[in-house]
Amino acid sequence: MESVTKHIITVAATLGVLAVGAGLFVYSGIYNSGADSPHWPVTYALMQQTRERSIEHHAKGIALPGNLDDEAVILKGAGQYAAMCTGCHLKPGMKDSEIRPGLYPQPPNLSQVRVDPKDAFWVIKHGLKMSAMPAWGMSHDDATIWSMVAFLQKLPDLTPAQYKDMVAKAPPDEDMDMGEEGGDHHHGSGEADEGGHSDNHGGSEAAASGPVGSAAGDQSHSHDQSAAAESDGHDHAAAAEAPLSLDGLKLKAVPAAEAVAESFHAALQKGDRDAVLALLAPEVTISEGGHTQSRDDYASRHLSEDIAFLKSARIKPVSLASMPMGETAMVGSETLITATLKGKPTTLRSREMLTLKRQGPQWKIMGVRWQSAPAENGHSD
Ligand code: HEC
Repeated sequence: MESVTKHIITVAATLGVLAVGAGLFVYSGIYNSGADSPHWPVTYALMQQTRERSIEHHAKGIALPGNLDDEAVILKGAGQYAAMCTGCHLKPGMKDSEIRPGLYPQPPNLSQVRVDPKDAFWVIKHGLKMSAMPAWGMSHDDATIWSMVAFLQKLPDLTPAQYKDMVAKAPPDEDMDMGEEGGDHHHGSGEADEGGHSDNHGGSEAAASGPVGSAAGDQSHSHDQSAAAESDGHDHAAAAEAPLSLDGLKLKAVPAAEAVAESFHAALQKGDRDAVLALLAPEVTISEGGHTQSRDDYASRHLSEDIAFLKSARIKPVSLASMPMGETAMVGSETLITATLKGKPTTLRSREMLTLKRQGPQWKIMGVRWQSAPAENGHSD
């Protein structure tokens, strides 16, 4: 009896000493919380194991949706990934990023490893404690997260060129920075056009701008200054902006969608605002160079500028083709536009990518991307 009591006292005393010790340790501040000081190997192993088991446990009951192989879903995920994930998880052809060396634990290179779809969904939605992995579920719905998962299944097989191509074809998304591949690059000063539209934003989005070029220096229509490529010195961003790719599109693949694209062009050229707007879905996003607009923004401002500019220009269609993607379709086209800019006749090569969705018997335009650059090699940089 006595020895039992003694035991209890000894155990209690030991626990007490440990608790005080732990308290002193915390209070002393000796522990190095810096992310550049590695965990003790035991701690690290324990955290790793806890994390893996936790993901497995929580992801077990998740049901996979049936559309992970759907082309449109994968493309959507490509856009999301390019906008939000490459800084930490890299992309094909990218060796490292500015943020990666400082992260602890290191994010896996998702352009090389394929993660189980259920695990990936759970981690993307909820994030991971004590790591830099954010919980994207706070700001994205499940369908969007699944699109990222769908894309991650393809990513390790993509070459840098294929990756660029997919991202360039990804549907535009409000307030999304597409990174170097996308047409929605938010770099330089071209964005400073909120309040007080002065008709000359003085930006320089390389090789990217309105339907109609809105080329450099044109006094009447200079919201993008496309021809003044890279003058902001962001050569890594501006110069690398990939042209909208029209690869994979075929003439007459989706004739009804192509017909809508042609009506859209005709309405713009005729200056028929109502006809233009009738073809645009209410939730359409329009991206001209670095600037993505809603339908209302576009209707209230750039639409009239585009119409005015096209009136004075000579337009020569070069190609138009389409691609079906489940419920949606893409129509890409190229046009040569000749206009007088800064008193000089200038020809711009303009590319357009429309995303259309069937709504009842009609195809409506859900997304518009425009890019243009001088057609001649007048600008060497
Ligand atoms: C700020 C950096 C950061 C960003 C941005 C980020 N992640 Fe992560 N992610 C991490 C880190 C760090 C880990 C690994 C944590 C670990 O090992 O405990 C991780 C882990 C993951 C995993 C789990 C990998 C595995 O092996 O189980 C997936 C999947 C993932 N991230 C997807 C994404 C996606 C998709 C995005 C973009 C929407 C994204 N991450 C954005 C830092 C980031």
